[in-house]
Amino acid sequence: MIAQRLRDTRGRVRPYLVLALGIALIAAVVLPVIALGSSRVPQPVAFNHLKHTQDLGLGCEFCHPYARTRAHSGLPDVTTCSMCHTSPQGTSAEAARVTELITAGDLLRFNKLFRMPDHVFYTHRRHVAIAELSCETCHGDIAHTERPPVRALVKVDMDFCLDCHRKQGATLDCNACHR
Ligand code: HEC
Ligand code: HEC
Ligand code: HEC
Ligand code: HEC
Ligand code: HEC
Repeated sequence: MIAQRLRDTRGRVRPYLVLALGIALIAAVVLPVIALGSSRVPQPVAFNHLKHTQDLGLGCEFCHPYARTRAHSGLPDVTTCSMCHTSPQGTSAEAARVTELITAGDLLRFNKLFRMPDHVFYTHRRHVAIAELSCETCHGDIAHTERPPVRALVKVDMDFCLDCHRKQGATLDCNACHR
């Protein structure tokens, strides 16, 4: 089909079609692969929020303990995972790898995916403990994801912050968020 169309009525290859096909191929296949590859934050294991929050019923603050008290919620490390994974859990290869890593003394250092630029001041304490916002408001349905997300599920930019601040009568002062 495609090979036929690339030739004109006299059977000669149509260069512009070959070129167009080439560009389409780059756009459709190569670019997304580059984009995914470069934006993926490396993590020691493929953590699964769905299994731990839904199946096992662990609360968010079990692993992100400072959400109510500090600016940063914090990420867990081997101390938290060791509560269960020093012995094998479940049957998946990834769970087995967690136990292997812990046994080998790996610290399971997770990397932040979601990061505000340095000029922005944001604190969880104010939003979670005082404004009583749910995690989903800003992080979407991360509780039902089975692999570390490649990008933030909710786009949290300045408009997103301002929209809510306007609706809830919170500050719109530049200096409150930029210090
Ligand atoms: C058993 C531990 C555990 C529980 C429970 C847990 N998380 Fe996590 N969470 C992690 C780990 C490990 C990471 C880092 C790897 C990743 O992104 O999956 C993470 C990453 C995140 C991130 C991305 C942060 C970033 O910048 O990388 C958000 C947001 C998050 N969790 C929200 C939640 C919410 C909301 C809940 C409750 C519904 C929750 N987590 C429950 C372990 C946990
Ligand atoms: C009003 C929006 C908002 C709410 C509500 C919110 N977060 Fe966040 N969260 C953010 C922003 C913004 C960042 C990035 C912070 C930074 O880079 O300084 C972040 C970062 C994180 C991180 C990465 C590690 C860190 O602390 O920087 C985790 C984990 C996290 N949030 C978990 C949670 C959990 C769990 C809840 C609910 C208890 C929650 N967040 C509620 C906006 C929110
Ligand atoms: C309260 C106990 C408990 C804690 C704490 C815990 N896990 Fe698990 N985890 C389990 C159990 C149980 C399973 C097996 C669930 C299943 O297969 O149904 C599991 C499964 C897993 C899997 C396999 C997921 C999959 O997709 O099959 C990974 C990876 C994992 N855990 C990583 C971690 C990491 C990393 C931490 C620390 C941040 C952690 N776990 C903390 C109990 C726990
Ligand atoms: C869904 C609603 C919502 C979102 C989204 C939100 N905020 Fe807020 N924010 C509030 C509320 C409500 C308060 C007031 C809490 C209180 O009573 O102290 C507040 C307070 C603040 C304060 C303290 C202001 C002061 O008076 O000093 C800062 C700073 C702040 N937010 C920054 C941010 C930033 C940065 C973002 C985006 C990353 C953001 N907020 C997103 C609702 C929100
Ligand atoms: C409620 C919090 C909040 C307030 C109030 C706020 N900003 Fe921002 N601003 C942000 C966040 C969050 C970002 C980072 C957005 C991103 O990285 O996508 C940002 C980014 C910026 C940037 C960098 C360019 C950009 O768009 O990313 C400039 C410049 C800026 N803000 C100026 C201002 C000025 C001027 C005011 C007052 C009129 C103001 N901001 C008020 C939260 C706020």
